[in-house]
Amino acid sequence: MDGGNLAQHLALPAPQLVDLISQDGWLRLQATCIENLGEDIRAFANLLGRPDTGRDGPILEQLTPHITESARAKSLSAIHGLSSFPLHTDGAHRARPPRFLLLACVRPGILPVPTLLQRFSDLGLTIEQRGLCSAATFLIKNGRRSFYSTIAGDRPYIRFDEGCMVAIDRAGKDISDAITASQARAEPSEVHWGAGDILAIDNWRVLHGRGRADTHASVDRLILRISIQ
Ligand SMILES: [Fe+2]
Repeated sequence: MDGGNLAQHLALPAPQLVDLISQDGWLRLQATCIENLGEDIRAFANLLGRPDTGRDGPILEQLTPHITESARAKSLSAIHGLSSFPLHTDGAHRARPPRFLLLACVRPGILPVPTLLQRFSDLGLTIEQRGLCSAATFLIKNGRRSFYSTIAGDRPYIRFDEGCMVAIDRAGKDISDAITASQARAEPSEVHWGAGDILAIDNWRVLHGRGRADTHASVDRLILRISIQ
């Protein structure tokens, strides 16, 4: 959903903001002042919940595309480099993935690449496949804090990221392949970035990725991210 101006939304009650994001699974806004972009999305994040640190520690993360060799170990960049990132849940390696993601564009880069958004409920999975989402067990790789989990279940969030989830049996492999095939058939929404654009994503219900299969991001792209629990 295109929601308009960030400054107007900072004056809204928090439950109304949550509702706006939850309606479609995401909300697009525009900052009025690019210089204050980081501080503005911090204020927005504080309204939505508790900002959480990413793997590198800072609450406000700076995301730039990396070639595979220079990327942080086990990150999506280490696997995919400048190529497209498959659709995933952010923080799938955590016990409970972040509720919301805030992304804000400082620079789209000389080769602008869209962010893709796909509601999990719109993947068109069959009843049997939805059953496997709750039944098939995956190893969630997170070093010494690795654990076992499913894609969905009796909880409010989905968990899907082939970068950190390993199927431990045939059922897991089958549902993982089915979701990948569904993603290929689905028509994810595309967010084309301009400086000052802000995107709030319901990370519990919506998968996101970077670019389509034949796209490559440029290293001058700069996106800010805050994860929120
Ligand atoms: Fe992500």
